[in-house]
Amino acid sequence: MAPLVIPDTKYCDLTYGGLDAELYPSEELKQYATRALDKASGDALSYFASGAPHEMTYGDAGLRERIAEILTARDGFARSAAGILLVSGAAQGLALVVSAFVDPGDGVVMESVSKKHALRYFTAAGAFVSHVPVDERGMDVDSVERSLTDMTRRGVKPKLIYTIPTFHVPTGVLMRMQRREQLLSLARKWNVLVIEDNVQYELYYEQRPLPTLQSLDTEGCVVQVESFSKTIAPALRIGWVSATPLVIESLARVREDSGVSLWLARAVDQYIADGKLTSQLERIRAACKRKRDYALNALRQYCGAWTRCSIPQGGAYLWLELSARVDWERVRSRLARDGLIFAPSERIEVGADAKQFLRIGFLQASDAEIDRWLSALSRAIAAGVKH
Ligand SMILES: Cc1ncc(COP(=O)(O)O)c(C=O)c1O
Repeated sequence: MAPLVIPDTKYCDLTYGGLDAELYPSEELKQYATRALDKASGDALSYFASGAPHEMTYGDAGLRERIAEILTARDGFARSAAGILLVSGAAQGLALVVSAFVDPGDGVVMESVSKKHALRYFTAAGAFVSHVPVDERGMDVDSVERSLTDMTRRGVKPKLIYTIPTFHVPTGVLMRMQRREQLLSLARKWNVLVIEDNVQYELYYEQRPLPTLQSLDTEGCVVQVESFSKTIAPALRIGWVSATPLVIESLARVREDSGVSLWLARAVDQYIADGKLTSQLERIRAACKRKRDYALNALRQYCGAWTRCSIPQGGAYLWLELSARVDWERVRSRLARDGLIFAPSERIEVGADAKQFLRIGFLQASDAEIDRWLSALSRAIAAGVKH
């Protein structure tokens, strides 16, 4: 067998959506993690607190209460811990919803460019997946209705609509209010669940975004998945599903993974109780805005002639469209020759629409790295222009 050759190249850090290392609250987390061990005299390292075996399925009771309080204050309607399930990141929350509600042959509607893990979960469950466009007002809800109608005509039972309405990944678009309401009325009419992927919600630069779909929902048809990955640290692997207690029970029934780390959940709970999340969010939002502006300026300076990009109001990505006159394959091989690999968008996002696009995750790079990568990209684009 031929030996595995690992190319002497580096994935471009600008592709991914993590935080700049300086934004991770490492020192504070260290303190809270230690305190969580001391305080609980050992049971933080168990599957569940003594006498509370349900924590193995639902997660640490304290953090569930805390999240319910945060969402109640944020969204303006009362939540309780019974409507919160802790999960290992929003991705696992979505996987559980699929496992609980999607049977082979059921229908799922999602945005045409979206997260690849979501598509993988849907297809692995044997779902029939319909992709609808996203424009500058968000998911095209008229197309959602056409998809639902079409599925029903073919004998497919529509079960889920998956959307990232706030700072959509990768486009950064914020779904407008009228679309939010239209989507909810469709969900009621067709009796389908809407999964609101809300992981970007807190990453607004200036103004709080529009209300979440869940806060506008009067019938309990929205299941929200969210996490601390973009606000504290993805390595915590702590997220949650927020839904009606009935839906949470259905998720609990299909869960078999022994839950989320009690230790880290307690550390995060105390971190939030001491007001640290509030200041962390302020820091992140300020950094997001500054980096967005820096990256946009660098883009204009280096790549302006051959690229187009809208200006997001939140989130950690720019969605860069290469001119049709640029041959991406040539750009890619030129970058590789320089020792750089920009992961092409088709590999990260699903959807044919993604072919001529690059996702720039500006939050995890320093200013110098942004300059370095984008100037390399501009040289590669120049080499890739079709004549
Ligand atoms: C829109 C969206 N949903 C879900 C996830 C997965 O997040 P988590 O780390 O909470 O599983 C990501 C991560 O990048 C994301 O961008």
